[in-house]
Amino acid sequence: MSWMKTVKSRVMGTMANFYWDIGVDLGTSNTLLLLNERGIVVDEPTIVARLKKKRWTGLSAPKWAGNKIVAYGYKAKEMLNREPAQIEVVSPIKNGIISDLEALEALVSYYLKLIYEIPSRYPKIFKPRVIVSVPGSITDVQKRAVKSVFLTSGASEVVLIEGLVLAAVGVGLPAKKNSGTMIVDVGGGKTEVGVISMGGVVVGKGIKSSSGDFDVAIINYIRMKYSLLIGQTTAERAKIELGNVGEPNKSLKEMVIRGRDLETGLPKSVKINENEIREAVMFEVQKLIKLIKEELDETPPELMDDILKRGIVMVGNGSKLHGLDRLVEKETKITTQRADEAGLCIIKGCGQLMEDRYLLESIRLVTG
Ligand SMILES: Nc1ncnc2c1ncn2[C@@H]1O[C@H](COP(=O)(O)OP(=O)(O)OP(=O)(O)O)[C@@H](O)[C@H]1O
Ligand SMILES: [Mg+2]
Repeated sequence: MSWMKTVKSRVMGTMANFYWDIGVDLGTSNTLLLLNERGIVVDEPTIVARLKKKRWTGLSAPKWAGNKIVAYGYKAKEMLNREPAQIEVVSPIKNGIISDLEALEALVSYYLKLIYEIPSRYPKIFKPRVIVSVPGSITDVQKRAVKSVFLTSGASEVVLIEGLVLAAVGVGLPAKKNSGTMIVDVGGGKTEVGVISMGGVVVGKGIKSSSGDFDVAIINYIRMKYSLLIGQTTAERAKIELGNVGEPNKSLKEMVIRGRDLETGLPKSVKINENEIREAVMFEVQKLIKLIKEELDETPPELMDDILKRGIVMVGNGSKLHGLDRLVEKETKITTQRADEAGLCIIKGCGQLMEDRYLLESIRLVTG
C-alpha cells in the first residue's frame, strides 16, 4: 500500500503548483499577506475608505448601492481625518477581532483578487488555501466569521492558528518541542503574552492595552499640558520618533508638533521632548509589564526553567518602542530580546508552516 501513498503525495505535490498557498496576518493596524512562491506581497494598513451608508430620513427607504469602497490600505490611511463628508474611513479590525464584517470582506476579496493577477509559472486554476493568524482569546463565533470572510472571498480551505504560535515558529523557536518559550506580542490593538510548548499555548493572556493606546495617552497628555488637540497620526509620529522608555538619551530628542489650541480654536505648535512622551506612555507600559508578570506567575515551574534559559522574545511592531525590551528585562529579571523584523514574525511563521506541512498538521492538532 505504500505505493498508493507515494502516488497520492506526488499527485498532491503536482496539484500544489496550481493554487496559491496564502499566509495572512490580519492585524488591527497592518495586514500582511505572504505567498508560497513569492514571499510577502502585501504589507499595508488594515483600513478601508467607503461611501457612507444613507440613513432612513423620511418614509421612503434610501437607495443602497452596496458597499462602495473608495480606497484600501495606504490610500485609505492617507484619507483618515481628512475625508469628505460622504466618505467614512473604517478599521475593520479592532483589538485583534473583526468589528466591521462588510469592510473586512471587501478588503480581503480585494487583496485575494490582486494576488490572482500576479504572474506565476503554473496557471493557478484551483482556489487558494489560506493560513490565518488569530488572537488567542478569539471565540468560536469570531472564528467562524474569520473563516467565512475568506471562504466567501474565494479560498478553498482556511486554517486558523494562534498568532503567538506562529510568532514562535517565525522567530525560529522550537514551537513543537516540549520546551517552553515566552512570546510577547505588542500590536496596534492588543498585547498578547503566552508560553508556547508542544505546538500550543500553555498559558496565554491578552489585554486591549497596546501600542495604539500609547498614541491615545500621548494625545491626552498634550491636551492636558498644552491645551493642544493633536490627531492620531501626529501622536503616532511622536511615539515613533521620540518614544523612549529606557535610559534617557544624552542629548534630549525634541520635535515640533502642530494641532488646534483648545482655548482659542486656532492652530498652534509646541515643541515636545522625549521625557514628556515617556511620562505620557508610562502608565500604559506598566500595564504591559503587569501582564507579563501575571503570566510568569501562572507558568508551570517546569517551563520556568526553559524560559529562564531562553529568555522572553518580543514581537509585533509595538515592541519597537525604544527601551521597552530593556525595561521588561529590568522588571522581570529575565533576559529579553526583541526579534529581528519584529512586525514580520507572525507572517514568517505562516510561510514556514506552508513549507513544512508536517509541522502545520501537528500544530493544527494542538490548536484545533
Ligand atoms: N518604530 C516604532 N516604535 C514604536 N511603535 C511603533 C513603531 N513602528 C510601529 N509602531 C506601532 O506598532 C503598532 C502596530 O503594530 P503591529 O503592526 O504589530 O500591529 P497589528 O499586528 O496590526 O495589530 P494587532 O496585532 O494588535 O491586531 C502601531 O500602533 C504603530 O504605531
Ligand atoms: Mg499583530
